[in-house]
Amino acid sequence: MSGRLASEYPSWKKLQQIYDSDKSKLVLKELFAQDPQRFAKFSKEYVSPDGPPVTFLLDYSKNLITDPILQTLFSLAREAEVETYRDKMFAGEHINTSEDRAVLHVALRNFNDFQIQEAGASEVQAVLAHIKEFTEAVRSGAWKGYTGKPINTIVNIGIGGSDLGPVMVTEALKTYSKRDLTAHFVSNIDGTHIAETLRVCDPETTLFIIASKTFTTQETITNAITAREWFLTSAKDKAHVAKHFVALSTNTAAVTEFGISSANMFQFWDWVGGRYSLWSAIGLSIALVVGYDNFEELLRGAHGMDKHFKTAPLEQNLPILLALVGLWYNDFYGAQTQLLLPYDQYLHKFADYFQQGDMESNGKFVTKGGQRVDYQTGPIIWGAAGTNGQHSFYQLVHQGTKIIPADFIAPATTHNPIRNSLHHRILLSNFFAQPEALAFGKTEEQVRKELGPNASEPLVKSKVFEGNRPSNSIIFPKLTPATLGALIALYEHKIFTQGVIWGINSFDQMGVELGKVLAKNILAQLGKPEDVTGHDSSTTGLIHYYQKHRKE
Ligand code: F6P
Repeated sequence: MSGRLASEYPSWKKLQQIYDSDKSKLVLKELFAQDPQRFAKFSKEYVSPDGPPVTFLLDYSKNLITDPILQTLFSLAREAEVETYRDKMFAGEHINTSEDRAVLHVALRNFNDFQIQEAGASEVQAVLAHIKEFTEAVRSGAWKGYTGKPINTIVNIGIGGSDLGPVMVTEALKTYSKRDLTAHFVSNIDGTHIAETLRVCDPETTLFIIASKTFTTQETITNAITAREWFLTSAKDKAHVAKHFVALSTNTAAVTEFGISSANMFQFWDWVGGRYSLWSAIGLSIALVVGYDNFEELLRGAHGMDKHFKTAPLEQNLPILLALVGLWYNDFYGAQTQLLLPYDQYLHKFADYFQQGDMESNGKFVTKGGQRVDYQTGPIIWGAAGTNGQHSFYQLVHQGTKIIPADFIAPATTHNPIRNSLHHRILLSNFFAQPEALAFGKTEEQVRKELGPNASEPLVKSKVFEGNRPSNSIIFPKLTPATLGALIALYEHKIFTQGVIWGINSFDQMGVELGKVLAKNILAQLGKPEDVTGHDSSTTGLIHYYQKHRKE
């Protein structure tokens, strides 16, 4: 965050030396054999400092780390002034330097513990009160559509941070949802997305939530206009729009121009990054689906993690620990990716959510000071809910040629204890077994013993698991709104910490601009082949093919 090159820190150089000299000694099987206390030493229980009770266990013992490596990683965090930059974030300093903005998603879930001076920060509670009032009106049936019927369907129209958070959280907390309120999320500009959604909606009972921080995003505004046209085909009178369209935005002028009155607008502020916005008005669809009280629990759970991140010493600080261990693989082992593997179907969108959260934040090659980095920054985030991934990509994770650090995440208790929790016991047996298999593998000797003396050499070799593949495990009692809030905040602060060390700005997203500009230019040229100018032969050829074959 300081904008310095991370590779210049003394601890970075020391880590490189340790890696070069000790890599072959970092063998999990041996590290566990040498130290019976390894689990006790390298695992920590989180207990929320206040708010709704949240606990979870983070086991990071199955990582290729030793005490000296961890100590050097902590020194690196100190040299990069992680604590100073963390405090700057909480104080509302404009750490998003390229956009000259504060980064204050923590203010959205600040239950009066932190003093934050920033325009809008004192209005957070008023917006929450608006969300509460509106949510209760819709859920109780008091809010009526234009023909006097209550709302039974909501359609959130947004993209990126104005979509992924609400999608992930409403899925994660489905068990708390109002089952007779159907929620749809439309994001893609592909007309198929909105067409298929509108097909199952009734204009008399549908509420559209137009979620866009800027209210200029092409996908969202196009989808919103399509939804309004569809609605007016039935409702006719534009005055009815007020009962069926609300907006979540920072841009009052554009919202009013769209035809949504300011009374139906839920405000937020430029210091809320899109990918950190589910805690803001963007969370309205979450509150509608799970109820305001559960939405507030989510916020309070995140706030507990904020307090932990702000106050716990580095060595006890879980987001910082996760960040440092991840950085060890990313920058010294050359790991390209990071897996997120929730063993909980409700969390099936968790990796999708953090694809934006992490990759849009830390996918940067230039430091805040404008220098090109000479090391790797943000990892590629991917994953799937267990056990589906096991039958898809785990082969490569176990026996492929790449190192792929993985975070396994699971609840001890399921919300669906069918057949005496048999399903859950099977699920968790896999949650325990996979990290074990990854870490300890299966030797050639074991394979030979199993196959007997007549086994062919290729068969023996193909059944060997080298092991030594690292993972973290996170286990918590049950997936509650507060636990989910804490987990999301855990990863948010992990991303922040890594960004500070890499010296990059985790809070802008310049990399999404170029494609948007080019698309706008191309859109104006799609009419006739002779209009297609200024491109390379490949792009021109592709557009010409489309023009020849399209039927509109
Ligand atoms: O993908 C770029 C981006 O700006 C994201 O950061 C953001 O979450 C998304 O577009 C949507 O932006 P908006 O909420 O302004 O429509």
